Amino acid sequence: MNDMPQLVQQNGTASLYVNGKPYLALGGEIHNSSASNLAYMEEKVWPHIKKLNLNTVIAPVYWELIEPEQGIFDFALVEGLIGQARSEGVKLILLWFGLWKNGKSSYVPGWIKRDTETYFRARYADGAASDTISPLCEAAVAADAAAFKRLMAWMKAFDTGKYTVIMVQVENEIGFLGSERDYSETANAAYAKPIPRRIAQAYGVDGSWQEAFGADAGEWFMAYHYACAVDRISRAGAEEYPLPMFVNAWLEQYPWRPGTYPSGGPVAKVMKLWRLAAPMLCLYAPDIYVANFADVCREYTQDGNPLLIPEARRDVSSASNVFYAFGRHDALGFAPFGVEGFFQTGEDGEGPDLSVMMALNIDFSGFVVNGTGPYLAQSYKLLGGMLGLIQQHRGTGRMTGFLQHHDSGCLLSFARYDVQIAYKRQEDGKPPAGGLVIELSEDRFLFAGIGFSLQFLPKRGMRERIGLLRVEEGVYEHDVWKRGRVLNGDEAAYRVAVGDQASALMVEVYSYA
Ligand code: DGJ
Repeated sequence: MNDMPQLVQQNGTASLYVNGKPYLALGGEIHNSSASNLAYMEEKVWPHIKKLNLNTVIAPVYWELIEPEQGIFDFALVEGLIGQARSEGVKLILLWFGLWKNGKSSYVPGWIKRDTETYFRARYADGAASDTISPLCEAAVAADAAAFKRLMAWMKAFDTGKYTVIMVQVENEIGFLGSERDYSETANAAYAKPIPRRIAQAYGVDGSWQEAFGADAGEWFMAYHYACAVDRISRAGAEEYPLPMFVNAWLEQYPWRPGTYPSGGPVAKVMKLWRLAAPMLCLYAPDIYVANFADVCREYTQDGNPLLIPEARRDVSSASNVFYAFGRHDALGFAPFGVEGFFQTGEDGEGPDLSVMMALNIDFSGFVVNGTGPYLAQSYKLLGGMLGLIQQHRGTGRMTGFLQHHDSGCLLSFARYDVQIAYKRQEDGKPPAGGLVIELSEDRFLFAGIGFSLQFLPKRGMRERIGLLRVEEGVYEHDVWKRGRVLNGDEAAYRVAVGDQASALMVEVYSYA
């Protein structure tokens, strides 16, 4: 294997290799405009995110700034960003803010914005133009592909060997807002034609989009055309420098009709169609702002899709969710959004921008920013010391995770024992219960997470009793266990518990008749 970042299948699950070693991203995505100025990054971003103990920063690269005039490229900003990341000792996942960002075309250069004839807009049913360039606009897709190709060629020359940039997200939260489909002339003509043969074969349907997909036709049509456009763009980039590339999804959510969330984006139900049309993407990534984190993880691991969460809601729940994502779903990475604000208080001007949340239709109920920083930093610190151990257990069936939602706890099943986990009642402003468990051997277990207590049970039908042989608090440093207190007496008399700050317990048990 060469050192180039790449996805490799191991134990039936995908691993990301960087510099020849497996890599798990404890990440954070920064605000949209932060990376447009290097001095701002130095002053307002790096000093804050360093405290989070993250190893990966997710940051945009803006088409409008790298190709301000057609064919004239300037990579100074990207070079500066990579340089800063190297000094900070973190890796980067870059977001290509090209033709589409949250459904709109706000990041295309001015020369594209102004030329609405060549780079035509998607239209609504009444014929009005949107501010989204149509995915059926060949010229626009070609221009984006050409710019992305130049970016990747530049990156190959600048970053090969060091591999500071480990993945690239192509576009951002693609899809059409305000209507289920594009009604431009070109789109109407394509919509009336028979669906492509590979789609007909895969779905066992035929005829026009309408005939084949009925009420869902508009969304399926858009998904196909966005996926074809992204396929062309990512292929152009990969021809120069084949970093792992992916797309992210603004999730299907209330009020549910396509167009209220971007229609045609890679929501779970159209992932199969995206895969057919854009086979070189390595994964489909959910941006999880909704409360049902576990359900979304489940949806986005269907059919072997590797889980990467490039954006998650910026509240204390992220401190627990990260354990669940790695433990239960073998995530490749996890990153809450807007991380430069996590250590600032409302008074510093960094509360949640509710108008933005509402405009983007993001669920902001229970949204708490203050206090997230210290909780997440502790989770990342703990996980950061044991990434090798986690990697070693991915796909083995000997690692799992749990997360509090509506239930009071859960029952986990291992080879020789079951473990009953009871969630601590969640208090306002504190993280929910969440954790991961690794079965190190039949009778030795590592528990890491927040807000739970545990009890070992015999497997059903077994009459044996189970006792605690040894319970240690501790942390992993470079994947070596360093024990703290040994818990016994009052601390282990009833149920062994973990509090509100992420911590780990090594538990050894024995059975007797
Ligand atoms: C989702 C987008 O992908 C991000 O770029 C950003 O706009 C956030 N929403 C804002 O919460």
